[in-house]
Amino acid sequence: MTTETGTRSVRPASRLRGEIAVPGDKSISHRALIFNSLACGRARVDGFLASEDTHSTMDCLRALGATFDEQPDGSVIVEGRGRAGLSEPSAILDCGNSGTTMRLLAGLVAGLPGLSVLTGDETLRRRPMGRIVHPLNQLGARVTARAEGTLPPIVIQGGSISGGQRLSPPVASAQVKSAILLAGLAADGPTTVVESASTRDHTERLLAVMGATFEFEGTAVTITPPEGDLTAVDVHVPGDISTAAAWIVAATVHPDAELLLTGVGINPTRSGILDVLREMGANIELTEERIVGGEPVADLVVRSAQLHGIEISDPDLIPRMIDELPLAALAGALAQGETVIRNAGELRVKESDRVASTAAALRAFGVDLDERDDGLRITGGATLHSASVNSAGDHRLAILGAVTGLLAEGETRVTEADVVAVSYPAFWSDLDRLRQD
Ligand code: S3P
Repeated sequence: MTTETGTRSVRPASRLRGEIAVPGDKSISHRALIFNSLACGRARVDGFLASEDTHSTMDCLRALGATFDEQPDGSVIVEGRGRAGLSEPSAILDCGNSGTTMRLLAGLVAGLPGLSVLTGDETLRRRPMGRIVHPLNQLGARVTARAEGTLPPIVIQGGSISGGQRLSPPVASAQVKSAILLAGLAADGPTTVVESASTRDHTERLLAVMGATFEFEGTAVTITPPEGDLTAVDVHVPGDISTAAAWIVAATVHPDAELLLTGVGINPTRSGILDVLREMGANIELTEERIVGGEPVADLVVRSAQLHGIEISDPDLIPRMIDELPLAALAGALAQGETVIRNAGELRVKESDRVASTAAALRAFGVDLDERDDGLRITGGATLHSASVNSAGDHRLAILGAVTGLLAEGETRVTEADVVAVSYPAFWSDLDRLRQD
């Protein structure tokens, strides 16, 4: 239901029913474009997520010399001409709202001769970049950034990456790991990243098929670049579990729901939300498990369930569900007993401070919770009343507000609601389709 531009209203749904083919995975869509731009040959990316974030990546890569052809069926053709086909951009690279674009492209341009300047929107310009500035300098690029090397814009003089290095980033971040691995592709030998906890491994899976060699030991990953360029490969992008999570949580906590979500990526480095919801008592059935484009995929049937609160704090679990923690907090609010989220300080440096913005949104609906430095303590059994919530310019918060509105008494308003286009442009129409009144 729409009101004025940018504001949406949501009424409680009597029932949630239906089937949805979940839109393509955002992380894999970015990577399919970036890696194939660096490779030699023509590749088709099927199931590509067309969204503001992935278009930011596409526009920046075009400025570096890559060519893309978006097909009427939604797929994208990438014409890769190898590393030599990319060159110094004549304009500033605008990464929009996308941290993945900025951090992965920083790693890419660190390995290209020439100067690149990366910036982004107001939100992205507040997000920490020291985590890539530091390691890329260690690898031999000359990288500076605003606020003593911590904030965008970032300036990168690339081209001389030295191999044989072993880096241990202090934060467990797939974006940081991927930036280092991308720079490592331009090195004259292997590069090792040792993570404090394993993070999503889409970069390793895809680059391995394209000709890079990987060795894994515990949380250490070593990349050895191929002799020449990477080889272009067609990519079938699975559905995004972070997008699916909105419907998985909605169907679980709604008293009368049954949803079929098809083609959901269930890569173990991303599927923490399924483990957590099941531990809380959720009814999630996985069917048709298969491998699509080197990634595990399944159809999910999710039905209403009564949940109980748990503690979500294992440092190995948090990176496996980092983007789903706001929705897990909603599940906690409707569970019996208390749910505690700890060791999730990284949430504070996402598209919004998601500890604070999740707490503010859920409190507005009547949830009793405490905000902590690294998480939330949530009292379960909430009776939700309608609220007016602002997305804080954060797509995941707009979605949290809308899903909560489906369960709250009265009419909820979500302002700055169009921000869902960052990751899920069809969110509002899918919501209208799955609800029954
Ligand atoms: C992403 C990694 C995660 C995640 C983000 C996408 C990626 O960020 O929150 O939405 O595609 O690599 P961090 O690596 O900073 O944790």
